[in-house]
Amino acid sequence: MSSSYEKEYQRLAAKITIVGAGNVGATTAHWAAAKELGDVVLIDIVEGLPQGKALDLAESSPIEGFDCSVIGTNDYADTANSDVVVVTAGVPRRPGMSRDDLLSTNAKIVGTVVSNLVKYSPNAYMIVVSNPLDAMVYVAKQVSGWPKHRVFGMAGVLDSARFRYFVAQELGVSVEDVHGFVMGGHGDTMVPVPRYATVTGIPITQLLSEAQIARLVQRTRDGGAEIVNLLKQGSAFYAPGASIVQMVEAIVKNKKRILPAAAYLEGEYGIRGVYVGVPVLLGAGGIEKIIEVELTPDEQAALHQSAAAVEELIQALPPL
Ligand code: APR
Repeated sequence: MSSSYEKEYQRLAAKITIVGAGNVGATTAHWAAAKELGDVVLIDIVEGLPQGKALDLAESSPIEGFDCSVIGTNDYADTANSDVVVVTAGVPRRPGMSRDDLLSTNAKIVGTVVSNLVKYSPNAYMIVVSNPLDAMVYVAKQVSGWPKHRVFGMAGVLDSARFRYFVAQELGVSVEDVHGFVMGGHGDTMVPVPRYATVTGIPITQLLSEAQIARLVQRTRDGGAEIVNLLKQGSAFYAPGASIVQMVEAIVKNKKRILPAAAYLEGEYGIRGVYVGVPVLLGAGGIEKIIEVELTPDEQAALHQSAAAVEELIQALPPL
């Protein structure tokens, strides 16, 4: 193979680093590789874990037919010049724990991880996944010093996917035809906006009763806890992994997707200085735009309440 060909290949392939080779990180690596979104680096503090999972995944490539490289490492030097970095490092919740119970443990982990990442990939886009999400992405922004369009969090795609799945199940229709998004923090104060949910453009408010919608909204709010209670140890990872990969794909393919993400607000929706889930335009420039949709006074109040809950968590963070 000529060296010029290799250079061309290098230029085209994105480099995607995933920190945390646990359930969420490994699942993300799996789908990112299967979709050939780029070369994948899996990094973890535990020796052997990322190497083992990466090798296992790479050995599936002849069967699944993906040609990207997948490596595991404990050394941040191997993550150098990544285009997208995904932070899943941290501890997951156990039954009875809220996402907020993870605050100080995961803040320290995310702080360390981010300071390592930025040394080697100063120009990357960063997707934070560790919980409590909205506070952890704030930590990532503070520690990295990166601009807001390059640091954001994954929660809205997941919460929305849960809602969409529940709606599809309730109506007995394809998940492909159900659209909608969830706003607010990734927690008890998340703000589903069923007025904007549709089945192929038909508002779900015309297809489901208020009581049905209220039940699905509540199940969405409790969606993470439902999985935690079933698993008994650890939290969800398939749907989170798929959600992360959708965001990575939007960036590396410059798809200009409109997706809900935890974005740093500076006056949008009357909120300032916190990360909250809102619809954004996601493309090669990261968050290229924050979409401001019209909200009813009740929805607006719920969003502000959600932002206040995130603000409380930020106040409770250990020194960064
Ligand atoms: N650096 C790198 N990796 C770390 C560090 C660190 N400082 N600290 C912990 N890790 C790794 C762990 O070794 C583990 O492999 O993070 C991984 C976390 O994996 P799991 O325990 O399987 O947790 P997971 O289900 O993947 O959830 C990770 O995502 O959804 C959120 O709430 C969830 O905060 C949690 C995170």
